[in-house]
Amino acid sequence: MSKIKARKGAPYARILGVGGYRPVRVVPNEVILEKIDSSDEWIRSRSGIETRHWANDEETVAAMSVEASGKAIADAGIAAEQIGAVVVSTVSHFSQTPAIATEIADRLGTDKAAAFDISAGCAGFGYGLTLAKGMIVEGSAEYVLVIGVERLSDLTDLEDRATAFLFGDGAGAVVVGPAQEPHIGPTVWGSEGDKSETIKQTVPWNEFRLGDVSKLPVDSEGNVKFPAITQEGQAVFRWAVFEMAKVAQQALDAAGITADDLDVFIPHQANVRIIDSMVKTLKLPEHVTVARDVRTTGNTSAASIPLAMERLLATGEAKSGDTALVIGFGAGLVYAATVVTLP
Ligand SMILES: CC(C)(COP(=O)(O)OP(=O)(O)OC[C@H]1O[C@@H](n2cnc3c(N)ncnc32)[C@H](O)[C@@H]1OP(=O)(O)O)[C@@H](O)C(=O)NCCC(=O)NCCS
Repeated sequence: MSKIKARKGAPYARILGVGGYRPVRVVPNEVILEKIDSSDEWIRSRSGIETRHWANDEETVAAMSVEASGKAIADAGIAAEQIGAVVVSTVSHFSQTPAIATEIADRLGTDKAAAFDISAGCAGFGYGLTLAKGMIVEGSAEYVLVIGVERLSDLTDLEDRATAFLFGDGAGAVVVGPAQEPHIGPTVWGSEGDKSETIKQTVPWNEFRLGDVSKLPVDSEGNVKFPAITQEGQAVFRWAVFEMAKVAQQALDAAGITADDLDVFIPHQANVRIIDSMVKTLKLPEHVTVARDVRTTGNTSAASIPLAMERLLATGEAKSGDTALVIGFGAGLVYAATVVTLP
């Protein structure tokens, strides 16, 4: 017989508050066209993207996270000291160690909250949310701050036609806390590592450091390029359209609801055509509000779902208490979908 005593937290968890931060600089497609042979019309029709935000030197991963988190904490009506854990999902924090989460936890004024980073690409928000729910129900934290934050402009090759127009910067955060009823449904998640080559960094850091110029990509002026995110657009597009609609449906089934019960759909903001195709496959009724924040935010990876959530609530397109399906998918390949009650 085990001698270990277990701990019990709240019966369930829910999102209590959300906040976002978008960098000041708005970048229209015209700026992207300075470096690639394309057109505003092509970018809009193929991706839906009209503008994105790019961070300046002061808008660091930590600074954007602190801004977004401050709003989420205020929205939740709690104090920073009550937060027991800070989970940061990002692929664009440039120090291998320590995690950026500890600095953010400190700057927010938490009381030595547990803090760590996770790397789950564009599914990062769903992964963080799932961890938060587990911590709250297990009792290792009463309130958990989940942040999705990216400065993808640092990892974008502006001469790459396939990706130059896609990515943006920003931070989104939610506070997750105790609940008496289930307000975060079961997560349907997974990975397909056999497709890991479809979205990846052009050159691993160690090869970049070794600096064998003959093997490193160079720009139009012959300078070695900084590593960037590259992807096989069509392969990822097909995977997202065919496989992710199934995962989204599984999340609805796991939560015991149908598309008719939904108020809001917040998929990862990668491409309006992917979003529209999922809406069709899932047969979402007209009354469901669909997030298409990608148009003015671009693809902000882990930040895209909380940023879109915050905007829908701020504009009144969605309201507190609405039932929303969220699904993230991307590099790994990884995915995570769940049904939540909006804060
Ligand atoms: C990137 C993406 C918008 C490209 O759209 P697409 O319709 O797949 O475009 P393709 O790569 O098939 O290219 C179609 C044509 O446009 C051309 N093209 C490619 N990039 C172009 C650009 N920036 N501007 C103009 N033309 C371009 C291609 O050369 C090709 O021309 P061809 O038909 O003469 O050969 C799309 O693939 C996509 O959104 N993929 C998924 C991205 C995603 O979801 N990522 C999420 C993970 S985080």
